[in-house]
Amino acid sequence: MNLVLLGSWDDDERDAWAAALQAELPGHRLWWPGQAPLDPATVAAAIVANPPPGSLQGWPGLRLIQSLWAGVDRLLGDATVPADVPVARMVDPAMNRAMAETALWAVLSLHRHTFRYARQQHLHRWHVWPQRRADEVAVLVLGQGQMGHAVAQRLHEQGYRVSAWRRTPSVPAATRAAVGPAPWPVHSGPVALRVALARAELLVNLLPLTPETRGLLDARCFCAMPRGAAVVNLARGAHVVDADLLAALDSGAIGHAVLDVFSTEPLPPEHRYWSHPQVTVLPHAAAQTDLRSAARLAARNLHALAAGQPLQHLVDRQRGY
Ligand code: NAP
Ligand code: GLV
Repeated sequence: MNLVLLGSWDDDERDAWAAALQAELPGHRLWWPGQAPLDPATVAAAIVANPPPGSLQGWPGLRLIQSLWAGVDRLLGDATVPADVPVARMVDPAMNRAMAETALWAVLSLHRHTFRYARQQHLHRWHVWPQRRADEVAVLVLGQGQMGHAVAQRLHEQGYRVSAWRRTPSVPAATRAAVGPAPWPVHSGPVALRVALARAELLVNLLPLTPETRGLLDARCFCAMPRGAAVVNLARGAHVVDADLLAALDSGAIGHAVLDVFSTEPLPPEHRYWSHPQVTVLPHAAAQTDLRSAARLAARNLHALAAGQPLQHLVDRQRGY
C-alpha cells in the first residue's frame, strides 16, 4: 500500500516517525510532502499527527486516517477531512500510564501542599499546613475512557476518595469484561455532575473536546465546587473558560489550577496563567505519544486494513470522540 505521513512537526520529528513507522510497515511505501510526487489516487491511508488544515483533501483512494494523537478534536474540526473515510485514534497503554503518573503527581502535590510550600520557600516563609489522609480527599475525574479510567484507577489505588463522570450511564460490555466494574462511583448526566462537583475538592479533566464539552469548566462549574477546590486540566484547553477560571482563582473560589493544555498553544508569553501564583503551567506534556509503541500500534491497524480485517479504535464522527 502507499501511505502518506502528514503532521505539524519539524523535519527531525517527522524523520523519526517515518523511520519508526517504516520499520513496522515493511513492504509498504511511506510518502510525505517534499518527496518525489506520487499519484494521489494510489494512496490507501494517511498517518497523521495534527495535520495542517486541508492536507487530507485530494486523496481519492483513502480508506483510513490513522491518528498518532489520542485526541482528534483538531482533526475533526477540519471540515475538509473527507467525511466518508474512517478515522482511527491512538490508544496506547503506555500513554495511559504516563497520564496516570501526571495526574497522580498533580493530585499528590495539591493534597500535600507542594505548590504552597514552593511559594513559601520563595518567600523564606515557614508555615505548616494540615496533613490530611488520602481517603479524606475527594477527587472527581471527568471522563472514564482510556485515560480517565487509568487515572481513576491509579488515584483509587493511592487511597483517594475517587468518583468519576462519563457521558453514557452504562459501561460497554467489552470494557466491563476487560477491566471489571469500577470500584468507585461513576456518574453521568448534568444533574449528577452538579452533585459530584459539590463534593469534589480536586477535579481532574480527561474529557475529549467535543461541542458538548467545550467550555464545560466555566463559572457555574467552579461555583458548584467547594470553596478553595483545585482544578487539574490534562485534556484540552478549550474545556476551560479562561476568564472564568482566572476570576475564580482571584476570588479564592478555586485555590489552585494545574494546566497542561491551553486554547492557544504554545501559551502566549503575556498570558496571565504564566505568572499567576495559584497556577502551575505544563507545556502539553502530560502524556506524550510514545514513538516506539505508537508506531507499532498504528502499523497494526494498517496491516488490518491491508488484510481486510476490522480496524481498531475508530472514532465516532457523530459523537466527536
Ligand atoms: P476516550 O477513551 O474517548 O474517553 C472519553 C471519555 O469521556 C469517555 O468516558 C466518555 O464517556 C467521556 N465523555 C465524552 N463526552 C462526554 C460528555 N459530553 N459528558 C460526559 N462524559 C463525556 O478518550 P481518552 O483516550 O481517555 O482521552 C481523553 C482526552 O485526553 C483526549 O481526547 C485528549 O483531549 C486528552 N489527551 C491529552 C493528552 C495530554 O498530553 N495532555 C494526551 C492524550 C490525550 P463514555 O464512556 O460514556 O463514552
Ligand atoms: C495529546 O494531547 C493527544 O491527544 O495525543
